[in-house]
Amino acid sequence: MLVWPNHPLVIADMLKTIFQRAAPEQFSDLSGLLEKQYNHQVAQSHIQHDSAQFIALLHLQKLLDQIVASVDYDRKSVAYKLLSSPPEKCQSLYIFGDVGRGKSMLMALFYEACPVEKKRRVHFNMFMLEVHAFIHDWRRQNKTDAISALAKKIRASVFLLCLDEFHVTDIADAMILERLFAKFFELGITVVMTSNRHPDDLYLGGLQREQFLIFTRLLKRKSKVIELVAKEDYRLMHLHALEATYYFPLDAHADEFVHQSYNEFTNFAPKQAGVLQVLGRKVILSVVHGDIALTSFDELCVQSLGSADYIEIAREFSTLILAGIPRLTPEKRNEAKRFMTLIDALYEHKVKLICTAEVPAKDLYTEGDGAFEFRRTVSRLIEMQSEAYLQSTHIGHM
Ligand SMILES: Nc1ncnc2c1ncn2[C@@H]1O[C@H](COP(=O)(O)OP(=O)(O)O)[C@@H](O)[C@H]1O
Ligand SMILES: [Mg+2]
Repeated sequence: MLVWPNHPLVIADMLKTIFQRAAPEQFSDLSGLLEKQYNHQVAQSHIQHDSAQFIALLHLQKLLDQIVASVDYDRKSVAYKLLSSPPEKCQSLYIFGDVGRGKSMLMALFYEACPVEKKRRVHFNMFMLEVHAFIHDWRRQNKTDAISALAKKIRASVFLLCLDEFHVTDIADAMILERLFAKFFELGITVVMTSNRHPDDLYLGGLQREQFLIFTRLLKRKSKVIELVAKEDYRLMHLHALEATYYFPLDAHADEFVHQSYNEFTNFAPKQAGVLQVLGRKVILSVVHGDIALTSFDELCVQSLGSADYIEIAREFSTLILAGIPRLTPEKRNEAKRFMTLIDALYEHKVKLICTAEVPAKDLYTEGDGAFEFRRTVSRLIEMQSEAYLQSTHIGHM
């Protein structure tokens, strides 16, 4: 005998099942995916197993599960939503720790695995450049509340925003962040950040820091703060794995050496150009991945860049791969001068340099204007290959 259920909960369950069947296809189950991918990379000997990284990965996996549940729920019918409770909210994450611990790598793993279309991963500096450009344009048209308009524009195409290398040194950024992030959280944008500093240590000693602390409090309230204490500086480990940091001559293998070095540091990341903003100008670098840049002598020293550009590059990148330093003749004195300025900036900021050159450092520039001063550059180039230098900490943006 067929019995028609009369209990409201039983009816609700039946309706739910019917609507579930009618709903569009769900994402396949991605639980445990990041662990699997991490373990696969370990098995392939691309990376070493690190239990601290694994713990951070579990937080990222939890967020991945929340995102999948949330997107699946959004696709359901109104009737289904009325009858079931909404999924857990997506928890924004802030991952901090020393350099070379794998923060950017874990974020990349998470980002690639995340099946939503409305996602974006961007270097924090690049992101702030866009923010300032938008605000500038908006205000030129005399419109009000640029930040609210910007947040809405971002929300239209981004549900998950991954900001790599988050840091605050600039008062203009410091004053915008609180209002911008408040809007992000209000509009339901999930943010994942990596940084070298705990939120409480951002913008230390900055102007109007009191005002900035409103942002810090918001960040700590709205995102889960995770410290990554991985067992070693993997960047250093990869530096040691290179056959050299100063490679010469510019033979058939030199080009391969440059690309192998890039792959060693980025785990075979695709090559994409990057832009730096220096004193209102744009400096374009042909390949940028997080805090690693792959560039060439021609790009940095033949073009007329100056000290401000080199300092910005030195702050921005902890590792610079510089291809094709030629032997410099007296008529190349301008290039030699720029190269000296570049090496000074890199040296002072403890940037790790991997380069290919036509001749050993001592033979790079032996006669011509400034050849005497160039000896300082030679000495620095040699010191920059030493173990002590390789172990020193990059002095980047605070
Ligand atoms: N467990 C690991 N084993 C080997 N290499 C790793 C591991 N974790 C990270 N790396 C590599 O070490 C380098 C530094 O990692 P990265 O993610 O850039 O560090 P961070 O963002 O914390 O400064 C990268 O080349 C990365 O691919
Ligand atoms: Mg990083």
